[in-house]
Amino acid sequence: MVKKLVKFVKVPKIKDDGFLCFAQNPDQIPFEIKRVYYITSPVAGLPRGKHAHKKTRQVLFCLKGKVRMVLNNGRKKSEIVLSSPEKGIMIEPKTWHEMLDMNENTVLLVLASKRYDPKDYIRNYDEFLRIARTHT
Ligand code: TYD
Repeated sequence: MVKKLVKFVKVPKIKDDGFLCFAQNPDQIPFEIKRVYYITSPVAGLPRGKHAHKKTRQVLFCLKGKVRMVLNNGRKKSEIVLSSPEKGIMIEPKTWHEMLDMNENTVLLVLASKRYDPKDYIRNYDEFLRIARTHT
């Protein structure tokens, strides 16, 4: 079975003196959320990410500004721009991801299925290709 590389996660957006979005398991988020992290004031023009995870699943939202996401499963590469808080993307395990074109106003929110573990990272691209092509 060919798994879809880009999977969007749409969440409700309620207009209530401003806007309120929410995401919960299992309705919008298909895993139990074990960790939340957010990125604020990224250095303009500096890429982030450039790694894959062995087991962690993540959903990323761009709450402010925009981000160009490059996703790569070792066989196929796709690019999408996120710029609205109600539309996130899934970053599945063994997916090399890069966050590009951010500026200091960009705010990213990430929901993760596992606690932080540096051993879950694949930071070497050749190692990533080897693992991704063996297991997908
Ligand atoms: P990293 O995941 O490489 O950031 P990005 O994908 O945005 O480029 O993490 C950057 C640093 O923060 C790195 O030293 C690891 C640390 N970190 C934690 O300590 N806990 C976390 O939950 C995360 C995501 C990162």
